[in-house]
Amino acid sequence: MRAAHIGAVTAAILAVVGGSVRAQAPPSVRDGVYTAAQVEQGGSVYAGQCLSCHGELSAFAPEVAALLADHTFRNRWTGRTLGELFELIRDEMPQDAPGTLSAEQTADLVAYILSGNRMPAGDTPLTGDLERLSKILFEP
Ligand code: HEC
Repeated sequence: MRAAHIGAVTAAILAVVGGSVRAQAPPSVRDGVYTAAQVEQGGSVYAGQCLSCHGELSAFAPEVAALLADHTFRNRWTGRTLGELFELIRDEMPQDAPGTLSAEQTADLVAYILSGNRMPAGDTPLTGDLERLSKILFEP
């Protein structure tokens, strides 16, 4: 009984500490918001469904659709959220078959695009949780 009580108090304290840390530091793309495994998955979806119009993430190819990892892209997305990027991809891409990507594929693609824009990977996978995604700014 006593030990359980101490455990509950400890958990409550940790919850308070954890909460205040999160309150001070909103999630940032610099904290590692996706995993390396997602980048691999996203990369293969990209190669199959995006590459033909957008070109390689790292290539200089002015004749293709909007590049997803160049200065123009970063300028356009700085200050906007990952939620917005997620929804655009899910609802409007691929432009020749919009609405066909699953939430998981879309999240993997966002991870792949973040990786191509040199944001660090981390331990927690990015999910289609729009409430969380809309708190994370795309801010290279
Ligand atoms: C049939 C060609 C085509 C395909 C396939 C395609 N896109 Fe696009 N995409 C476009 C065009 C065209 C635009 C708009 C370009 C513009 O407005 O300058 C665009 C815009 C975008 C944007 C917004 C770019 C920006 O600068 O804001 C994103 C993000 C995007 N596409 C992601 C994807 C992803 C991810 C895939 C693969 C699932 C994909 N697209 C597949 C043609 C395509």
